[in-house]
Amino acid sequence: MAIKEAKVVTITSVKGGTGKTVTTLNLAGILENRKLKVLIIDLDLYAGGIDLLLKLEPKRDLFNLIDDVNNNQFESIDDYTCKYSEYIDVITSPHDPRNANKIYSKYLNLVLGKTKSRYDVILVDTNHFMNDINLVMFDASDEIVYIIDNDLIGLKNMRTMVSIYTDMEKKNYKIILNEAKKQKGYFTPYDIKHMINNNINYTIPSSFYIKNIEKYFLDGKIPTLDKRIKSYHKKGLANLEKIANLLYKVEKKESKAQIEEQKKVEIQNMLNETRK
Ligand SMILES: Nc1ncnc2c1ncn2[C@@H]1O[C@H](COP(=O)(O)OP(=O)(O)OP(=O)(O)O)[C@@H](O)[C@H]1O
Ligand SMILES: [Mg+2]
Repeated sequence: MAIKEAKVVTITSVKGGTGKTVTTLNLAGILENRKLKVLIIDLDLYAGGIDLLLKLEPKRDLFNLIDDVNNNQFESIDDYTCKYSEYIDVITSPHDPRNANKIYSKYLNLVLGKTKSRYDVILVDTNHFMNDINLVMFDASDEIVYIIDNDLIGLKNMRTMVSIYTDMEKKNYKIILNEAKKQKGYFTPYDIKHMINNNINYTIPSSFYIKNIEKYFLDGKIPTLDKRIKSYHKKGLANLEKIANLLYKVEKKESKAQIEEQKKVEIQNMLNETRK
């Protein structure tokens, strides 16, 4: 039997502040609702803050993981993943931003190698730079998700990215228009489609604007796991569900949690048999 590996999905953009981090966390929440095991890697090395948003107190971060592997100090990946819930773990970005400079792209595949077999989905939150770290991460990803918003320069940059992907004949990217932001955009989805020379694969609708989103994060809550959000933001959630389907088609595969549950039952049955 083949060893099941997590699907690696990188969330990125061509300009800052489009909603990458919020979308990463909301997708993680939706995957948790489906009882899928999720690892979030905060690859926004200089300005990451997922530990703050989820109220985590990591003992070690991504830099420590790579540094320890390098110095033969690595023992278990559990020492570097921080538990948010039964289903969601996080590897946080360097606590000391000076250490971000010491994270080399060549170690990313090593980190994935140590984690892929333990999760259903690995969500990687990035910054918007086209640097070596992000490019290597894109190459290691099954799917790259671009979050765009209604901004002229951002849309121009997205068009450039689309033409680069076309030249490279790479197709494993999706474009998500985030309309759930405060300011009303000038361009219509029709304009945007033509400006970026590509389809908008999904839209996070303006109705998914969460007025007091900071309050959720101050309490360490993922909005998509919250009961109020689930009942008041049905349309936005439905669209996020569609994006999650792209990341993981649960109906086609058994989740890690289901496999573990099944294993437990099998072991229990074996024990019962031997006791007879
Ligand atoms: N659904 C939403 N409702 C309300 N505000 C939102 C929503 N999605 C994003 N925002 C707001 O948009 C801003 C940018 O979001 P976020 O931090 O996720 O962007 P980012 O792309 O990760 O930014 P950076 O490039 O700095 O990492 C934040 O202030 C966030 O609160
Ligand atoms: Mg971010």
